[in-house]
Amino acid sequence: MIIRPARGDEAEAIALAVADQPLLARYGTTCAGLARSLDQALARGDGLLVAQEEGAVRGMAWFLASGTFALGGYLRLIALAPGTEGRGVGGLLLDAVEQEVAKASRHLFLLVSDFNDGARRFYAARGYRESGALPALVHEGIDEIVMWRRLGPGAET
Ligand SMILES: CC(C)(COP(=O)(O)OP(=O)(O)OC[C@H]1O[C@@H](n2cnc3c(N)ncnc32)[C@H](O)[C@@H]1OP(=O)(O)O)[C@@H](O)C(=O)NCCC(=O)NCCS
Repeated sequence: MIIRPARGDEAEAIALAVADQPLLARYGTTCAGLARSLDQALARGDGLLVAQEEGAVRGMAWFLASGTFALGGYLRLIALAPGTEGRGVGGLLLDAVEQEVAKASRHLFLLVSDFNDGARRFYAARGYRESGALPALVHEGIDEIVMWRRLGPGAET
């Protein structure tokens, strides 16, 4: 498994790999819609990392390196290809995002859906603290939980 920056022409391949995640369906995100969003993200210069195994995309992490609360980076979406969960690939992607964001910022923020218990455990195990809830921010009936971690040598968790 290698983690690498996405190429400029890769939005559709990445979307095809991860679009069947039930989480995305819950938000009404289609494969075509995700491909469009990733294409725009690449054009803007957002961070986009890919997990690749034997030539196939197995996961992605989309992030902003700075600007959140004028203090830190923001992990916009991390998602694996269905069937890739539980093998540590999410951790490899998150490690790589943290390394990139730490070049510009001392903090990394993210939002996780209130119902996504697996992801909440995943982030908590990596030092992210739940720091509040934003009721129905993105989708009616779903609260977004703010999670946050300090980055860098000696950073508290
Ligand atoms: C969240 C995610 C990135 C974690 O990456 P990972 O490599 O699976 O991480 P881990 O192996 O540490 O497992 C983390 C959690 O994923 C879930 N998971 C593990 N194996 C799974 C599988 N085969 N199928 C579905 N979920 C699984 C579990 O809830 C697990 O938590 P637990 O071990 O405490 O029960 C990944 O599971 C994923 O892409 N999930 C779907 C999209 C998502 O929820 N993204 C987060 C948006 S904020």
